[in-house]
This record gives sequence, C-alpha cells and structure tokens, in this order.
Amino acid sequence: MANNFPLIISKHLWLDQLCLSFFISVSVLLIIPVLLILFTRNANKRSSSSSGRKSLNLPPSPPRLPVIGNLHQLGKFPHRSLRALSEKYGPLMLLHLGQAAPTLVVSSPDLVKEIAKNHDTTFSNRPQTTATDILFYGGKDMAFSPYGESWRQARRICAVQLLCLKRVQSFQSIREEEVTKMVERLRKASLNIGDSTNSVNLSEILISTSNNIVSRCVLGENYDTEEGGGSRLGELGRKALVQFLAFSVADFFPSLRWIDVLRGFIASLKSTSRALDAIYSEVIEEHKAIFTSSPKDFVDILLQLQKDHSMVNFELTNIHIKAIIQDMLVGGIETTSTLMEWLMSELMNNPRVMKRAQEEVRRVVGEKAMVEINDIHRMDYLKCVIREALRLHPPGTLLIPRETSRSVEIRGYHIPAGTKVLVNAWAIHRHPDFWDEPEEFIPERFENSPVDFKSQECFELIPFGFGRRQCPGIAFGVTSTEYVIANLLYWFDWKLPT
Ligand code: HEM
Ligand SMILES: *[C@@H]1O[C@H](CO)[C@@H](O)[C@H](O)[C@H]1NC(C)=O
Repeated sequence: MANNFPLIISKHLWLDQLCLSFFISVSVLLIIPVLLILFTRNANKRSSSSSGRKSLNLPPSPPRLPVIGNLHQLGKFPHRSLRALSEKYGPLMLLHLGQAAPTLVVSSPDLVKEIAKNHDTTFSNRPQTTATDILFYGGKDMAFSPYGESWRQARRICAVQLLCLKRVQSFQSIREEEVTKMVERLRKASLNIGDSTNSVNLSEILISTSNNIVSRCVLGENYDTEEGGGSRLGELGRKALVQFLAFSVADFFPSLRWIDVLRGFIASLKSTSRALDAIYSEVIEEHKAIFTSSPKDFVDILLQLQKDHSMVNFELTNIHIKAIIQDMLVGGIETTSTLMEWLMSELMNNPRVMKRAQEEVRRVVGEKAMVEINDIHRMDYLKCVIREALRLHPPGTLLIPRETSRSVEIRGYHIPAGTKVLVNAWAIHRHPDFWDEPEEFIPERFENSPVDFKSQECFELIPFGFGRRQCPGIAFGVTSTEYVIANLLYWFDWKLPT
C-alpha cells in the first residue's frame, strides 16, 4: 500500500529534503528575501503601512530583519526561543514572521486569564494555513475551523456524543484489551533483555498503544494496527502530522504560494489527504453495510446522528464525518503518547518519585490479576504525577494557534484583527512567579492543591488550552494515560538503559 503516493515527492526530492520540517528549513528562508525582492514589492508596502500604525500602541516587538522579520529567531525549539525573547520584550509580544499577519505571543498566566475572561470569543478563531485547508476538509472539522456556526455544530457533537466522560468510560474494554496486548509485548521483550538486546524501545510501544486505543474507539475493530504501528492508517497519519508541522512558504509569504506548488508540497499534501479520505470512505461504507442497534465506535455514532435528524439540527454529511474522524485521530494519538513518554522518562530520572508511584499502584491493586478502572480512582499520587508531567512537558508547547477575529485592546496595547496568537504554555508552566522550583519534577506540589488543568479558573496550568477552544478530549486522553501508566508500573520495574 505504501506505493500509493510517493511518486510526486521523489520528483522534488532535493527540495523536499530541504524543507523537511518547519524549523530546520527556516534557514532556507535566507534565499527567499532575494526572491521576494525580485518578484514582489510587498515588503515596501508593508513597512510603510506598519509605520503608519505606530500611533496605535502595538505590543513590544524584537527588532526584525527586512522581509523575513523575526522568522530566524524561532530556532529549533520555538517554545524555548520564544520564552527567551519574552523575558526581554514582555509577556505580550508581537512578532513578524515573514510577510504574513503579525503573531502575538502570550507568556504569562495573568494575560491568559485576561484573554479567557474578557476576550474569549475574539481569540477563538484558528488561522487557516495551507495544511489545514487541504488536510482538514477546508475547515469542516472542529480543531482547525474558524470560530462560527460550523465549528459550534462539530464541537457540540464531539463534546456531547463522542468525548463525554460517559462515552469515554464505555470504551474501557478497548483500553483493557490494548493494554493487555502491550503488557504481553513488553513481557516478551523483557525476556530477551540481557540476551540479544539490553533494552526495550518504550516509545515505540507507547506510540502503538495510543494509536490502537484511539483508532479502535474512532473507527472500530477492523482498523486497529499491527504491532509496531506499521499499518496503512498509522503510516498515513504520521505522514499527515509531519506535513502538517512542515513549513509552508505560503503561510509566511502569501504571495509566494507558487513556491509550494513548484516544490511539490501542495501535491504531496493533497495525496496524503486523498489517501486518508479513501480509507475513511471505506470505513464509512463498511459501517453502513452492517446494521448496529448499539453503536460501538465513533463512526457508528456519527452515522446514527446522520440518520436521526432529531439529534442534530443540520445536515451531517459524510464530509463532516470524515473531518471529525480526522480531528480525533490527529488530536488524540500523538498527544497522548507524547505525554506517556515524557512521564515515564521523568519517573526513570527520578527514582524517588518512581518508587512512591509504584508503591501506590501496587498497594491499591493488591494481588489481583489486572488493574481495574476503580483502582485508578484511588491512585491520588499517580494523578499528581500526570499533572506534573503535563506541567513540565505539555505535548502542545504552544497550544494550537489562535487568531483574533477583531481588533482588541489589552493592557493598553492594540491587537489588530487577524493577528495570529501563540500561547506559550511551556513557558507559563515554568513561570518562576507562579511555581516553586519550576524546572524540577515534583508531583507533591499538586497534593492538596486546587491547581488543575480541567478548571476554567487556573491559568498557570493549561496543557489542554483554555476557554471555548479548550481540548474536548481531556477525559479521553487522561483516562488512557492513567490506565496505561498504572499497568506499566504494576507489571514491570523500570530503569534507563545503561
Ligand atoms: C494528553 C492528551 C492531549 C493533550 C495534551 C491535548 C492538548 C490540546 C490542546 C493544547 C488543544 C488546543 C486548545 C486551545 O486552543 O486552547 C487541543 C485541542 C483539541 N483536542 Fe486535544 N489534547 C489531548 C488529547 C486529545 C484527545 C484524546 C482528543 C480526541 C480524541 C483530542 C481532540 C482535540 C480537538 C478536536 C481539539 C480542537 C478543539 C477546538 O478547536 O475546538 N485531544 N488539545
Ligand atoms: C524508538 O522508537 C522510536 C519510535 O519508533 C524511534 O523514533 C526511536 O529512534 C527509537 N529509539 C531507539 C533508541 O531505537
């Protein structure tokens, strides 16, 4: 199946290699100024219009280079570079990335609070990029659609029908089966330790476990992946994610979209999107062919809503269904496995915490042959460990970008309409004014603490975002994480490879 689409990519291989990922390829931008000056005069127009705006007190900005602006300052780890910049220019900072609309970077809890409390709707848009356009059905999904009626409808379906706590709990048997498979796999691998290998690759196992749990809940039994995550869907999903994060020239230089076309970026996005779409069509047809009175997965539920007009007050087309499926897969798999990986690596680096967490798990479960869901509710320390892992290592370091829908005034600064907004959750979670020993992994800080990511009142811990656009998958992601980690600690002892 893998030979479905790579032709177009290989044709432009040298260019694609250059542009492999956003941050590596920022350096490529150094050739773009030349192109820009040759082909457009936008640069001059922009700089004269921004000097015209000076009277409108804009947030502070670092000095910028002509044409590329601050793009070169993002570095390999933008959340780190942006924290360093905001230490100098303030928690409300305006960057100019290429020739696109300016980008506001928010880096303190009190500013997030102000935005969430007073300007939530204004900040609830998402910027449309080349990749969201092509991969997410032109905004018919939820995660990347602009704030409006279409988003509201998709969001309501997800929150009420797919991701609510009751539904998440109803999938416990899927989690149990997948975790049993994971434990078996680890047990086999651990038998070989000291023999041919001296370690197991836990990342690989967590990625495939997360992938299997989410894709079975979303698509059903027949689409779970082979061991090692080598399925067609898994491969395409990862490819979509890479392309989604990849650097698109047009997103920073709107007038240079033709470069994306020329280097094959658009074509390769379209081919990934077509391949995924074909799988989704197949899944939908197969689900339609089998009548079920009790829905077993998200596709069943969505098809039932499609038929039953009393539940949704708009026409839920197959495209809507596909876009929602796409959101769940993209939003649910990688985030959860990243969290689990960080968490395990912190435990291995902090033997004291590992010991305490493991003792709790083993005490609560006792001599039973499996970890039960009710056991999890009695693992208070494990919950603190998860919160602490989300604090130090939020999988979305900068959340998902927002965009202002109209101009707004914050702390005396003017924020124009259409400004992109990055919230540096990573920096906020390590803000020295709000956290003691912010760089240390200390789960105890959450014992008897009201600080929680679910709360819409705590803005120093926002791994799932905030406001109307907050992640609707919190219960889903946290439940999977708790269950997987509890089992890893119950069944095995862990240490880093020597
Ligand atoms: C540990 C796991 C997860 C983390 C850390 C996480 C994090 C996030 C973040 C930071 C956002 C952006 C929020 C904002 O703009 O304020 C988000 C949005 C979203 N997440 Fe999650 N997420 C996780 C799990 C999941 C799961 C399991 C699903 C679905 C099965 C999911 C589906 C979504 C969707 C659909 C959105 C877009 C919501 C909207 O724009 O209205 N997430 N998530
Ligand atoms: C472990 O697996 C991950 C995911 O497949 C891979 O990226 C990583 O390089 C592997 N690590 C080692 C040490 O083999």
